[in-house]
Amino acid sequence: MNKWTKAIGVVAAAALMIPLAACGSTRGETSGGGASDDEVNVGISMPEQMLERWKIDGENLKEQLEGYGYNVTLQYADGKTDQQTSQIQNMANNGMDYVVIASIDGTATGAAAEQVAANGGTVIAYDRLIMNTDAVDYYATFSLTDVGRMQGEYIEEKLGLKDGATGPFNVELMAGSPTDNNARYYFEGAWEVLGPYFESGVLQSQSGKVPASVDDWQSIGIDNWDRQKAQNEMENRINSFYNDGTKLDAVLAQNDAEATGTYNTIEAAGWDYYPIITGQDAEKANVQAIVQGKQSMTVYKDTRELAKATAEMIKALVDGDTPEAPDTFNNGNKDVPSQLLTPVTVDKDNIQEVLIDGGYISAEDAGL
Ligand code: GAL
Repeated sequence: MNKWTKAIGVVAAAALMIPLAACGSTRGETSGGGASDDEVNVGISMPEQMLERWKIDGENLKEQLEGYGYNVTLQYADGKTDQQTSQIQNMANNGMDYVVIASIDGTATGAAAEQVAANGGTVIAYDRLIMNTDAVDYYATFSLTDVGRMQGEYIEEKLGLKDGATGPFNVELMAGSPTDNNARYYFEGAWEVLGPYFESGVLQSQSGKVPASVDDWQSIGIDNWDRQKAQNEMENRINSFYNDGTKLDAVLAQNDAEATGTYNTIEAAGWDYYPIITGQDAEKANVQAIVQGKQSMTVYKDTRELAKATAEMIKALVDGDTPEAPDTFNNGNKDVPSQLLTPVTVDKDNIQEVLIDGGYISAEDAGL
């Protein structure tokens, strides 16, 4: 957005503030001036619906917040940054008191978050941080480096690396979306575990697609965490380096879409084995793939817990209390008070206990 469109947006927002102020939207105060005085309006901006997780996240959050009696507007942005920006701007212009944002591109949403703040709203970054702005008030997510570390540790354990196996083993690496601030932390966690083995030569990559350092993670990033893009990437690597019978031992896929792209490629190539394939999000289709032995593990992040934590933050603010946010995350501008939840490794051995007994997915949906 250039400064003129931004200025116009602010003027338009200011114009919209007048009628709102006039009808006394006093956020949480009881002035006795009519039913709308106590209304709490919350906007939720989710990145897309291709991944099941965002649908579940959005619905859970809406339900929790409506349970507190708040008015909720839930919107999805189709994976398009411009669409997300204009949806958030509309929320700002409509005088939302709280806006929860799961960014497509954490840097691109900064300007829209500033518009929410300029209109007196509070911004909560959901799952992904909003970067380089003061306009983000709180952040709720899962411990990011732990997610990557758990994927790396799974590969380490299954290849027997701690027990001294020397390989060399062939491992292909993919990272998340270059525009997603989380993706760096995921790779950092995985690299803490796997990096030393690549250095010693126990692990190697036939494609040579190994970042020189954590800072170079975007060189193996998959745009938008897109399943098809991950599949194209794995098709290239497999056709060029592994279709002559060279064994592929493991694939670091940092979410379930990347895992799907990988096992689809292998299935199409007609191999008689699947390598160790990691994932993240416990998407239904991927839980089934784990049951079927196509994917090895996923890092499960209970979106119900994240929705609950976020809704409770908002409730605390509405009630004039301090929200639970014991950690901080720096977004380039400030340390954002954050709440970090704990992810869980799921593979075929604990699907029943964690996902099904935990009520996250039914046995039937898991393909059990
Ligand atoms: C990340 C998120 C992951 C995964 C990924 C793809 O930001 O933390 O859980 O869903 O995006 O959408």
